Amino acid sequence: MRPFKLERYFAEYEFKAERVLSASDCETLSMAELLGMAAGASLELWRELRLGYTETAGHPLLRAEVAGLYETIAAGDVMIAAPEEAIFIAMQTLLAPGDHVVVVSPAYQSLYEVARHIGCGVTRWELEPERDGWRLEVGRLGELVEDRTRMLVINFPHNPTGYTVSRPELESIVEFARARGLYLFSDEMYRLLEYDSSARLPAVCDLYEKGISLAGLSKAFGLPGLRVGWLATRERTLLGRCLAFKDYTTICAGAPSEILGIIALQSREPILLRNCEIVGGNLAVAARFFAERAGLFAWFAPKAGPVAFPRWLGEEPVESFCRDVLDGVGVMVVPGSLFERPGNHFRIGLGRRDFPQALGRLAERLRDRRV
Ligand SMILES: Cc1ncc(COP(=O)(O)O)c(C=O)c1O
Repeated sequence: MRPFKLERYFAEYEFKAERVLSASDCETLSMAELLGMAAGASLELWRELRLGYTETAGHPLLRAEVAGLYETIAAGDVMIAAPEEAIFIAMQTLLAPGDHVVVVSPAYQSLYEVARHIGCGVTRWELEPERDGWRLEVGRLGELVEDRTRMLVINFPHNPTGYTVSRPELESIVEFARARGLYLFSDEMYRLLEYDSSARLPAVCDLYEKGISLAGLSKAFGLPGLRVGWLATRERTLLGRCLAFKDYTTICAGAPSEILGIIALQSREPILLRNCEIVGGNLAVAARFFAERAGLFAWFAPKAGPVAFPRWLGEEPVESFCRDVLDGVGVMVVPGSLFERPGNHFRIGLGRRDFPQALGRLAERLRDRRV
């Protein structure tokens, strides 16, 4: 498998840099904060927890809490796994050499790399930059699919652009998939972080019988250290095959993570409110920062979620800009080339409380530049 460019970059710099401007998760919750939200019965589960193996599909209460996020999903339609693991398992289970997939691009690398490694053809369905945002042409799908296409892979709210389609557009993607019998793998890791709840799309597992929704607690909930995510689908046969595959990855989730995951889902209202407030505040700071430096950056306002993908307009390539900011003021910025996307874009993350400080450091570095 080719190295995962973004994850290798994080592995190298995330814990060395003084500030990270490009994180995609929301401000991490501490154990004390999370346990402080726990209701009596869940606290009891935590105190009484025994550290044995857990059920492969996930703790029944955790699966029930997950099911509560959807309209048509029962606990039995859910498999718990670390989000990245869930992508790997779903692709390994659904795809075979010679299949073809269409993937919204740029994309989180595993959303196409696992398919490529299996021996599938991959066609990128590119988001196009517009004057001040992004656009995905849903009408292009017909040109992108082939006879051997087996799956469409979508991701809204999107990483790294913060783009999201409208509800009618999502429905037409579902109709397209249904008419051709395609699986629709929907990475919904950033769902529930819409700035305005009217922009929230229905989950694909609710809309489509061959839809698979991936979600988890890493991003919107600010709990990536739990490594709790899930697949939700009404295709029970597929879920059964995923469970059988999981015997070759982790077998089951960590017992403490499952209980903490139950507590997080039961406390979702205050957690999501907190994180949406952080993102909303940082979004305003970012918009002002880029407006004041319109000679150096083109700001592409995100529509939902905690990331955005502005463009660097300076003379040097974006990789040199990112390197200079890291070396000069200790701030890690992710260049768009890690998403295999030309055009001098870079990702910023709006979910962390120290975002204004990280941006302030960047401003320091740019002080002598013509803005
Ligand atoms: C779109 C998307 N899907 C899946 C994941 C994987 O999540 P995790 O790192 O919690 O496994 C990420 C992480 O950055 C992501 O951005």
